[in-house]
Amino acid sequence: MKYDFDKIINRKNTFSYKYDVAENILPMWVADMDFKTAPKIIKQLEKRVEHGIFGYSIVPQAWYESYINWWDRRHHFKMEKEWLIFVSGVVAAISSVVRRLTLPAEKVLIQTPVYNIFFNSIINNGRYVAENPLIYDGNSYQIDFKDLEEKLKDPQVRLFILCNPHNPVGKIYSKDELDKVGQLCKKYNVVVLSDEIHCDITRKNYEYVPFASVSKTNLENSITCLSASKAFNLAGMQSAAVCIPNNDLYLRVNRGLNNDEIAEPNAFAIISTITAFNECEDWLEQLNAYIDNNYRIVNEYLLKNIPQIKCVKSYATYLLWLDCSSLKIDANKLQNFIKKETGLYLCSGLEYGNPGQYFLRMNIACSKKTLLDGLNRLNKAIKKINVCI
Ligand SMILES: Cc1ncc(COP(=O)(O)O)c(C=O)c1O
Repeated sequence: MKYDFDKIINRKNTFSYKYDVAENILPMWVADMDFKTAPKIIKQLEKRVEHGIFGYSIVPQAWYESYINWWDRRHHFKMEKEWLIFVSGVVAAISSVVRRLTLPAEKVLIQTPVYNIFFNSIINNGRYVAENPLIYDGNSYQIDFKDLEEKLKDPQVRLFILCNPHNPVGKIYSKDELDKVGQLCKKYNVVVLSDEIHCDITRKNYEYVPFASVSKTNLENSITCLSASKAFNLAGMQSAAVCIPNNDLYLRVNRGLNNDEIAEPNAFAIISTITAFNECEDWLEQLNAYIDNNYRIVNEYLLKNIPQIKCVKSYATYLLWLDCSSLKIDANKLQNFIKKETGLYLCSGLEYGNPGQYFLRMNIACSKKTLLDGLNRLNKAIKKINVCI
C-alpha cells in the first residue's frame, strides 16, 4: 500500500468533537475518520496557508468541473454547471431546503432507522417527521413500498429525504428501487432530497447509483446533496454542493441557501474539494480497500468471539450497524454500559429512530490496531453484561 492507514495519529487536543472526551474513552461514534486526508490535499492546503491572506473566496469554474468530472467518471452521471450550487455543509443545506420547500407544521418523510440529524433538521424548523420504516428481515433492509405510498398520500407530506447510500444501515439502493421511489414521489407531488454524502465509500465491487441519474422523473424532481467530506475526511473544511437540475426548483432553493448565507466558501473549502476530486482517486481506492478489510475483521471477530452480536451486511459507508437484538437490552442502556465498563464509545441505535432500539453503530474508519482495541472492549463488556444488567 502506498498510503499508511495503519499509523495511529493522536487526535487529542485538536478540538476534535470525536476525541475531546475523557482519557480512557475510545471514540467509535462520530462519522469522521482517524486517517490523515490524502497527502496531495495537505500539500495544497499548506500552500494556501503559506500564502497567508485569508480574505473572501469565490467559487471558480474549476470547482464545478471537479464535481462534474468526478460524477461522470466514477458514477456515470453527467451533471451540468447550471445545476450545482456551493454550500458550506450538507446538514445546513438540508435545513435550508426544509424551510424553503415546506411550511411550518407540514411533514417531511424519512426512512428510519436513519441519520439522526435528519430529525433535527425537520423538528427544529417546526415541521413534523413522517416515517417510512425500512423492513429488516434479520439480514438486510428493504423499502416498504406499500407503506411509502400510504405516507406519500398524506397531503401534509411535502418533502422526502432519502439517504443514499444509507447511514446507518449501509444499504445501496438499486436502480429499480430508486426508480420506484422517484415515480411514487412524483405521483404525490413530493420533492426528493437525496443525501449522497457517503457515496464514495463502498465495498469492493459495489457501486452506488445517483438518484437523479435513474430517470427523467428523478432528475426533474430532486435535490441531491454531494460532498468530498466523508470520503476524504474533510468535514471540517465545510465544503459541499447541491445539484438541482430542475430550474424552478433550483431558483427556489438557491434563494433559500443565499438567504441563509450558506452558499459561500471559506478559504480552504474550494482547494480541498478540487484537489480531492482531481488528484486523489488512488488514495480513495486504497482507503476503501482498508475499510473493506476492517469490515472483514469485524465480521470474523464477532462470529468467533461475540456471536450474540451480528453485523448487518454493509455495502457502503464506514459505519457498521450492529444487531444486538439477541441481548434484548435497550440500545441506550447497552451503549451506556459498554462505555462505563470499557470506555468504548459507540452510538446507540435509538439515535436513529425507534427501529434502532436493539442496534449499535460502530465507526470503523480507524487503524486496525484501534479497531481490535474496540472489539476487545466490546467483547469484555458483553461477557459482563448478563451478570450486571
Ligand atoms: C447522511 C449524512 N448527511 C450529512 C452528514 C453531515 O454532513 P455535513 O458535515 O456536510 O453537514 C452526515 C455526517 O455524518 C451524514 O451521515
